[in-house]
Amino acid sequence: MSKYILSFDQGTTSSRAIIFDKKGSIKAMAQKEFTQIFPQPGWVEHDGNEIWYTQLGVATEVVLKAGLTVHDIAAIGITNQRETTLVWHRHTHQPIYNAIVWQDRRTSEYCDELKKMGHAEDIQQKTGLVIDAYFSATKLKWILDNIEGARQKAESGDLCFGTIDSWLLFKLTNGKVHTTDVTNASRTMLFNIHTLHWDEDLLKLFDIPASMLPEVKSSSEIYGYTEQILTARQIPVCGIAGDQQAALFGQMCIKPGMVKNTYGTGCFMLMNTGDKPVLSKNNLLTTIAWKIGDVTTYALEGGVFIGGAVVQWLRDGLGIIKNSPDVEKLATSVNDNGGVYFVPAFAGLGAPYWNQFARGTMLGITRGTTTAHIARASIESIALQTMDVLQAMNADASLPIRELRVDGGATANDLLMQYQSDMMDCKVIRPKITETTALGAAYLAGLAIGFWKDTSEIENYWEAEKSFEPQMKDEARQKVIHQWKKAIKAAQAWAD
Ligand code: G3P
Repeated sequence: MSKYILSFDQGTTSSRAIIFDKKGSIKAMAQKEFTQIFPQPGWVEHDGNEIWYTQLGVATEVVLKAGLTVHDIAAIGITNQRETTLVWHRHTHQPIYNAIVWQDRRTSEYCDELKKMGHAEDIQQKTGLVIDAYFSATKLKWILDNIEGARQKAESGDLCFGTIDSWLLFKLTNGKVHTTDVTNASRTMLFNIHTLHWDEDLLKLFDIPASMLPEVKSSSEIYGYTEQILTARQIPVCGIAGDQQAALFGQMCIKPGMVKNTYGTGCFMLMNTGDKPVLSKNNLLTTIAWKIGDVTTYALEGGVFIGGAVVQWLRDGLGIIKNSPDVEKLATSVNDNGGVYFVPAFAGLGAPYWNQFARGTMLGITRGTTTAHIARASIESIALQTMDVLQAMNADASLPIRELRVDGGATANDLLMQYQSDMMDCKVIRPKITETTALGAAYLAGLAIGFWKDTSEIENYWEAEKSFEPQMKDEARQKVIHQWKKAIKAAQAWAD
């Protein structure tokens, strides 16, 4: 039997491919950043073809880098930036418009109208989601309403809609398979998380022809076989999950009450709530964590839209650091934030505020403020936004959260991890393998073909690398929280 699983991790800013061995260890990794397109303030797009060829490129690269051939790859798992919406032609396989990225705010006003029309409760009951431009439904409607000929072609059955998992699967199988998994479907605002079917009333509300929707399957089963890449052998594609759900699985948060936070472009905290959906009373989302066999597992989720992306902005927008890891050095060159608080609400605010119109706000700047203070306030903003989500989760949970498993690129930053633990007054645990998003997709793929027997086998591979315990005095913590809440208010006041 082949000895490795290849994971596609198609994120918001880069396409990555990672090869894992039987013990869940990384054999090799390849990554490529791709173009972020900002046609207007608040709009964010990706080129669907660029997503495909960067993903294909890194997949080929990683196999070569590992010194392997396709015969060594037992299966492929896909994990992806969620909600991002692409429409392509069923026969030519060409996108009809750029992918509208989850961060894109162009449908905010329409979402407000939906709220005013009284749809919020019904939509939350059915989909577990809060009405927001974040999710796919309004982006898809925008494409059908604004791209010439799109609606007519969709009605004739010529167009396919998909989140990025579905697009990659379609391309990998050369158009043979138009499928998604339940976790990605649960982020569209068109999917009923109780019945596990596309919801007819919501399709009517958003005027979406059912023929363009992918078939929805579990997160771990054979969807199809590769046709176009690595053609020497057809490889089963047999694991799919949205990146945050994949990370929850990769962190082995498989028991109710277990929580993880992933620091990627945004930050996403998910708590496993078992086999029943729990509706939040504190502005969190209810989402499908995964479906394996007949068992569906649910999660509560709080997402922060700008996490690691704030560091990218320091690098590309302000040019105050050359490479992302340089931020830690710059931020630790000062003892504190010098009174500067920064709410990087570049794409509005997600959980628990859900303000689509809030924008980035920096407060407390004095003549003595330097780039180091701005870097420090930026790092702190990641932890403080995450703290807000944890507070909401604590309010929803029956017991307070005692520990948080963390993953993603920014967890390498010890300053951030310690501050995170201090501000949440909660233990933070970094595992040995922080590439848990890709690992989760690999596990889901491997389970589908018997590469791993069951979750109890893989559970043993999870290992902590370092824990961070809270060290800050409560008085100091409360002072920071007080300032932070004022900054959050200011970011929202801008919207009024
Ligand atoms: O919901 C958006 C999320 O899936 C994006 O994840 O890792 O690209 O920040 P990431």
